[in-house]
Amino acid sequence: MSSESSNTEKWGPKWFNSSMEWLDARFPATETFEYHMSRYYAPKNFNFFYYFGVLAIVVLVNQLVTGIWLTMNYVPTGEGAFASVEYIMRDVEYGWLLRYLHSTGASFFFIVVYLHMYRALLYGSYRGPRELLWLIGMVIFIALMAEGFFGYLLPWGNMSYWGAQVIVSLAGAIPYIGPDLMEWVRGDFLMSGATLNRFFALHVVALPLVLVVLVFVHLVALHHVGSNNPDGIEIKKNKGPDGIPVDGIAFHPYYTVHDLHAIVIFFVFFLAFVFFAPEAGGYFIEKPNFEMADPLKTPELIAPVWYYTPYYSMLRAATFPLFGVDAKFWGLVVMAGAIIIPCALPWLDRSPVKSIRYKGMWSKVMLGLLVVSFFVLGYLGTKSPTDLRTATAQFFTIVYFMYFMLMPWYTRIEKTKPEPERVTV
Ligand code: HEM
Repeated sequence: MSSESSNTEKWGPKWFNSSMEWLDARFPATETFEYHMSRYYAPKNFNFFYYFGVLAIVVLVNQLVTGIWLTMNYVPTGEGAFASVEYIMRDVEYGWLLRYLHSTGASFFFIVVYLHMYRALLYGSYRGPRELLWLIGMVIFIALMAEGFFGYLLPWGNMSYWGAQVIVSLAGAIPYIGPDLMEWVRGDFLMSGATLNRFFALHVVALPLVLVVLVFVHLVALHHVGSNNPDGIEIKKNKGPDGIPVDGIAFHPYYTVHDLHAIVIFFVFFLAFVFFAPEAGGYFIEKPNFEMADPLKTPELIAPVWYYTPYYSMLRAATFPLFGVDAKFWGLVVMAGAIIIPCALPWLDRSPVKSIRYKGMWSKVMLGLLVVSFFVLGYLGTKSPTDLRTATAQFFTIVYFMYFMLMPWYTRIEKTKPEPERVTV
């Protein structure tokens, strides 16, 4: 294939073609480019929601590059961490920019990934033959949550400290092994420099490696099965005499140019926050984090950053002990359940059609309720609990789970519309 490709693609200057021939004889460069780009046929009806995959790659690269530069001046010790971040902000040339690109990048990573996942819910992208692609995505999501959590401790601000304290102490609620496990995770009897050190290692080396490998595998799986699209029909089923799907267009140059446009617009929004509102009113960087970690001074309200608050609300929604086990443990079970239940989607959805465009009323109402519950829980997680707020969080936790647990039923009984033969542009 490589020699055939280099024969057919002789479009460059002579020196370039001969260099490519040399390379292709030793490494599948042209072959790989063709397989993943110029001969990868993507559906021609991609819409707005299909930008977020490439944007997730852009944000990942931003996090890696700015993270490497931050590490050059950051000091991972209990005594030095907070001051080193101040030093980066004030004295390191463009240190403020590197730090804000990284901290704002974390929030934008979650905005982009949540929209990317929502697209899969809209168009049934988790359904066969993309179950594995979806599961790999779920592992990425969990790794990303861990990456954000470990990173948040590093500035060693007071919310870093107490936020991590709350989450690590959850391990203590596990019956029998809890207290020992908690101490093992912290590496000390309380949150300390030892904890900061191991979180640093995980945030800077282990999880970025895991994420990069997972994203690579995610894309290999995607290109093996091919992309879904807003109509939820398989374009590979309808090929022309040339063997190319009639509803497909070459990813390069058509979608590379198309995506470049989205990347530029994305940067307008992203940099507007970086330059003009990097704290986003306490949503991206919380106010107590401008004070150094103090084990003797608990912040008035301990709340995680916005992207964890829907799950944090569900954690706090469990308020009563069950089977003699503490409510805190059940909170942990509900929160972990809420994070991993989307893994089951490929097997819960029994609809004859994939896309929300052709599904019935029930699917639309339940997806709408899921979105509402996610926002309400997210809001409640940023507030201190009252009786009313806890009752509301309990109600919406149930609504959240109903979307998944009732899916086998409502996707089977509802009336669907017939899918079109060809994609609708
Ligand atoms: C670092 C994070 C991620 C990156 C860089 C990434 C990258 C991509 C890219 C480039 C695509 C193709 C373009 C597109 O369809 O938008 C894609 C497709 C897809 N991703 Fe991700 N992804 C990430 C996280 C996730 C997560 C967390 C999930 C779900 C749990 C997920 C599920 C999917 C699915 C189902 C598709 C196929 C969608 C379709 O064809 O309709 N991805 N991903």
